[in-house]
Amino acid sequence: MRNPLFLLSLLLLILPSSYSQTPNPNTKPPLHQAHTELINFGFPIGLLPASVKKYTLNQTSGDFAVDLGGTCKITLPPDNYLATYSKRITGKIENGKMAELDGIRVRALFKWWSITGIRSSGDNLVFEVGMVTAKYPAKNFGESPFCEGRHSSS
Ligand SMILES: *[C@@H]1O[C@H](CO)[C@@H](O)[C@H](O)[C@H]1NC(C)=O
Repeated sequence: MRNPLFLLSLLLLILPSSYSQTPNPNTKPPLHQAHTELINFGFPIGLLPASVKKYTLNQTSGDFAVDLGGTCKITLPPDNYLATYSKRITGKIENGKMAELDGIRVRALFKWWSITGIRSSGDNLVFEVGMVTAKYPAKNFGESPFCEGRHSSS
């Protein structure tokens, strides 16, 4: 029985070079109004996957809801944390601050954690999990990621 890792490395050798990591402008995910709105509030677009279908915002209260086509799994830079997005993400947004978030979870230390808030702080993003925070450079979130393991066009 052959080592599956051997088969995988063989496969990677055979795959055409277009499958490599070199950025290709033609594969840039399309942006939705929700991504533009993120920028307006001082956040990078990469906080939302490319699969946004619908987006609502109450300008008065800041309450928002983002509907994705389905649940979505992505790998977050730079530490490759696995994150899942629910079909619907809700929360409150104001300039540089998202709160009462519901629908984004991150896998770390063998557990799933719900991200409850995200703050923009200079060149960094501060992710809040209850009382705990983690800071990451915002430049890691410059592009809206495609969901993993889905066959429809994001
Ligand atoms: C928007 O939020 C305000 C303040 O909370 C509320 O009074 C209003 O009903 C909301 N509008 C909609 C369309 O939900």
